[in-house]
Amino acid sequence: MKVAVLGAAGGIGQPLSLLLKKGLPAGSELALYDVSPVVPGVAADLSHIPNRVKVSGYGAERLDDALKNSDIVVIPAGVPRKPGMTRDDLFNTNAGIVKNLVAASAKACPNACIAIITNPVNSTVPIAAETLKQAGVYDPRKLFGITTLDVIRSQTFVGELKGLVPEDINVTVVGGHSGETIIPLLSQLGLDFTAEQVEQLTPRIQNAGTEVVEAKAGGGSATLSMAEAGARFTLHLVAALSGTESVQCTFVAVEGQPTEFLALPVRLGRNGAEEILDPGEFSQYERKIFDDMLPALKGNIEKGLAFAHSN
Ligand code: LMR
Repeated sequence: MKVAVLGAAGGIGQPLSLLLKKGLPAGSELALYDVSPVVPGVAADLSHIPNRVKVSGYGAERLDDALKNSDIVVIPAGVPRKPGMTRDDLFNTNAGIVKNLVAASAKACPNACIAIITNPVNSTVPIAAETLKQAGVYDPRKLFGITTLDVIRSQTFVGELKGLVPEDINVTVVGGHSGETIIPLLSQLGLDFTAEQVEQLTPRIQNAGTEVVEAKAGGGSATLSMAEAGARFTLHLVAALSGTESVQCTFVAVEGQPTEFLALPVRLGRNGAEEILDPGEFSQYERKIFDDMLPALKGNIEKGLAFAHSN
């Protein structure tokens, strides 16, 4: 299995690469690409960890070499938010970065799965889909927006509130990956939440990214928890491509839903997204916030598609 990380020297890319170096099966290859000149150093640094995952670094001119023969391309490249910004405010900078990286992937490794972390995910995934279509290699089963951070935050916050072991709490989070579009289905947990608790916990999960952005006070957004989320998703995908299936919430292309892309529970298997699963019952509150956010999510998706068409 070869995994390429594009943006590997950045705030997310470095810890993500460490977690992949530690978590990939023996015999795998980890290709680290970045425009930053420190990427060979990051690769050298990681390569001193003794295991059978081969690490190599590729600088600005060597994107194709990094991508060649990749099974999975993970993209954390791009700029992070500063306090006061929404994820959508990153669009102008990050849209072009994602488009170029995905176009290069379409050429160098047309059959690879692509997992996108770069914000705004609600728009960058549609951009990637359109870019792959333009290159004639789009397979919707192989394109993912990573929303695992919303799941692990939900686990943490529910665990704290209820005094439960967070790892044992399996929360389905649907919708998108920004503010109001993040819909954790807390009612499915079978826990005894008061209406007030749900109405406090839900916005806490929705605004958790902003909580980190503000706490970092201009120093960026979540990097360590995002790296953990990215590694979790990537390692599940690696396992699935090798035959060990699992169900993960992720932002994918969907049919028969109110939007063209949606985060839903997805069965990952040998071909990527084998099956988009029914998310199960919504409470009245969850149905309302889901329906209310749809125009915003549709707007994010359309903005991405329009960008990809006009560039
Ligand atoms: C997050 O959820 O922490 C990331 O999407 C980064 C951000 O800007 O909030």
